[in-house]
Amino acid sequence: MKTIVITGAASGMGLCATKKFLSQNWNVVMADFDSKNGQVKADSLSKEFTNSKVVFKQTDVSDAESVQNLAAFSHKIFDKIDAIINNAGIFVSGALHEIPENSWDKIMNVDVKSIYLMTKSFVPDMIKNKSGVIINTASVSGLLGDYNMAAYSAAKGAVTNLVKSMALDYGKYGIRVNNVAPGPTNTPMFQKNPQETIDKFIAASPINKIVEPEDIAATMYFLVSDDARSITGQNIPVTAGFGI
Ligand code: NAI
Repeated sequence: MKTIVITGAASGMGLCATKKFLSQNWNVVMADFDSKNGQVKADSLSKEFTNSKVVFKQTDVSDAESVQNLAAFSHKIFDKIDAIINNAGIFVSGALHEIPENSWDKIMNVDVKSIYLMTKSFVPDMIKNKSGVIINTASVSGLLGDYNMAAYSAAKGAVTNLVKSMALDYGKYGIRVNNVAPGPTNTPMFQKNPQETIDKFIAASPINKIVEPEDIAATMYFLVSDDARSITGQNIPVTAGFGI
C-alpha cells in the first residue's frame, strides 16, 4: 500500500486530494497549520475510508523544525513515503508598494520556502529508495499578470520555475516532479472574494465556470499515478480556460 503526505490538507484542494487518494486505497498523512480542522477531518475520514490509514500532523510548512517533525512522524508510522504534495499556500493582495513587509515575507515563506523545506526533509529518503513523486500547487497567477496580485504572482512564479530544476536534479533517482497550476477554484480561499469578483472570474472562462477542488484533486492523482510515468518537470494548468 502506498503513502502520500499532503500539506494544506485541512481545507480546499488539499482536503479533496486527501479524499481522492484515500478512495484509491492510499495511506495519507494530512499536514496543516489548522490543527482543529485538520484533526476533525482526519477523524471523520478514517471512519469513512477503512481500507487505508489517514493521520493528521499539525505542521507549519514555513518552519524548518515543524517540517522535520512532520517527516519524522510520517516515517515512524509508514515505512516508505511514496509521494508528497506541497499544496499549503496563502494569498496576499495589493499592489507591490502596498504590501506590508511582514506579509511579503510570510507569503514567500509559506508558498515558496515550504517547498525547499519539504524537499530537504523528504527527498533524501526518496533518493535512497530510488523512487518518489512530488507535486507542487502553483497557480495560473504564476503564469499571468493580474491586478493586486504582485506578491502572490511572484511567489507562484517562483514555484512555476522551481519545478524544472527539481525535475532535472531528481530525475536520475527515479523521482518525478510536476506542478498543478489551478485557475480560480471554489475553495475557502477563493470564496473570500466578493461575489462581483467571483462573477468576473466565471465570465472570463470560455466554459463559464470556475474550477472545483475535485478537478484539482483528480489531476494531482493522475500526475502521481503511473499513468503519468512519462511526465516530469511540467506545470499543468487546470483553469476552466481562464487566461488562455
Ligand atoms: P485553502 O485556504 O482552502 O486551504 C489552504 C490550507 O493551507 C488551509 O487549510 C490552511 O490552514 C493551510 N495553511 C496555510 N498556511 C499554512 C502553513 N504555514 N502551514 C501549513 N498549512 C498552512 O486554499 P486552497 O484554495 O485549497 O489552496 C491550496 C493551494 O492552491 C494554495 O497553494 C493556493 O495558493 C493554491 N491556489 C488556489 C487557487 C484558488 O482559486 N483557490 C488558485 C490557484 C492556486
